[in-house]
Amino acid sequence: MAPTKSLPRRKWCISITVAAIIVIIIVIVVPLAVILPRKKHNIQKANVIVPLYIYPSSTSLWDPLYNALEIHPTLNFTVIINPNSGPGTTQFPDADYTAAVEKLSTYDNALMVGYVRTGYATRNISTVIAEVDTYASWSSNSSALTMHGIFFDEAPYDYSEDAVDFMHTVNQVVKNSTGLHGPRLVLHNPGLIPDSRFDDNTTDVTVVFEHDYPTFLTKEASLDALPNNRSEYCYLINSVPTMALANLTTLVDTLSSEAQYLFLTEETVDFYQSFGSLWTNFTAAMTT
Ligand SMILES: *[C@@H]1O[C@H](CO)[C@@H](O)[C@H](O)[C@H]1NC(C)=O
Ligand SMILES: *[C@@H]1O[C@H](CO)[C@@H](O)[C@H](O)[C@H]1NC(C)=O
Ligand SMILES: *[C@@H]1O[C@H](CO)[C@@H](O)[C@H](O)[C@H]1NC(C)=O
Ligand SMILES: *[C@@H]1O[C@H](CO)[C@@H](O)[C@H](O)[C@H]1NC(C)=O
Ligand SMILES: *[C@@H]1O[C@H](CO)[C@@H](O)[C@H](O)[C@H]1NC(C)=O
Ligand SMILES: *[C@@H]1O[C@H](CO)[C@@H](O)[C@H](O)[C@H]1NC(C)=O
Ligand SMILES: *[C@@H]1O[C@H](CO)[C@@H](O)[C@H](O)[C@H]1NC(C)=O
Ligand SMILES: *[C@@H]1O[C@H](CO)[C@@H](O)[C@H](O)[C@H]1NC(C)=O
Repeated sequence: MAPTKSLPRRKWCISITVAAIIVIIIVIVVPLAVILPRKKHNIQKANVIVPLYIYPSSTSLWDPLYNALEIHPTLNFTVIINPNSGPGTTQFPDADYTAAVEKLSTYDNALMVGYVRTGYATRNISTVIAEVDTYASWSSNSSALTMHGIFFDEAPYDYSEDAVDFMHTVNQVVKNSTGLHGPRLVLHNPGLIPDSRFDDNTTDVTVVFEHDYPTFLTKEASLDALPNNRSEYCYLINSVPTMALANLTTLVDTLSSEAQYLFLTEETVDFYQSFGSLWTNFTAAMTT
């Protein structure tokens, strides 16, 4: 008898609880859902970009990269291949370099792009184009040596019509190339925000910041105010202080909302000639 007698009261209790939950949802969750996206707390996936300026006299020198690719299969890496401040003087890379690149090509989450300097658009454009063509020719040696785009370092940032034309021409060579495969990604590295007249729809990604972390903090507002889609921006930040992984994750989340391509290192000199001690934490922070 007792159970049936208490039933109406239980129903009443349930109704009050349901009503209370609805009120909580309306009062707390709905405003949060409205506020949070404005604060850019919606986490967007970013790519790790790796200026890999390490000569692989043994493939083990690239092990930190192979390990990160393996333990973070859903994280995309754009790897800048740079045998000798460019493709070097021979058509194909040497045996050490070939072995290291072939191993890299076995990871689906690694996209390789070749390094070419433009000398702020002062180099002989024929030489720049020849270097692009050298990387493009690698795929004729072995499909494991296929490059998917070009990283133009020392890209100009001060406007001149000639410099804009120079960059447009070399971009077209990349986009028209039959030896480069996949997205034929075109990246420019002026290292800072270039004159807006360099904004060309054949440039996929621009490195708008390449400097130390303290300087980054003074520039972040102007970087965040850039008009294009985050997918077109890259930050290369050195001298990043040691911090707890949770704090690094918070930093990386904020940066990811501004730029899709990121590289952070604690190194203060020769930033790209070793995998610093931050590498493991940085790649881990990028996946959470
Ligand atoms: C990684 O790259 C692949 C192939 O380009 C793409 O399909 C995938 O969406 C990318 N993943 C992320 C998290 O960006
Ligand atoms: C640029 O290089 C090409 C091919 O090597 C050469 O013919 C040309 O004279 C060079 N131009 C200049 C301005 O040095
Ligand atoms: C590939 O490159 C190597 C040099 O690394 C060279 O010895 C070999 O002949 C090339 N193979 C082809 C098919 O071009
Ligand atoms: C690239 O291809 C486009 C369209 O086919 C052509 O107009 C342009 O001249 C080419 N540019 C270069 C640098 O090869
Ligand atoms: C790129 O810009 C040129 C003019 O600068 C325009 O003709 C072309 O349609 C644009 N292409 C795309 C894909 O937006
Ligand atoms: C930014 O670009 C990405 C990929 O190119 C696209 O999916 C996204 O819709 C773009 N976002 C905006 C706000 O235009
Ligand atoms: C991590 O962030 C917390 C709060 O945001 C701060 O109190 C703490 O000092 C930071 N730790 C490090 C090592 O940066
Ligand atoms: C990596 O993260 C761990 C755990 O939070 C921290 O103790 C360590 O100092 C970090 N290393 C670097 C180089 O930031």
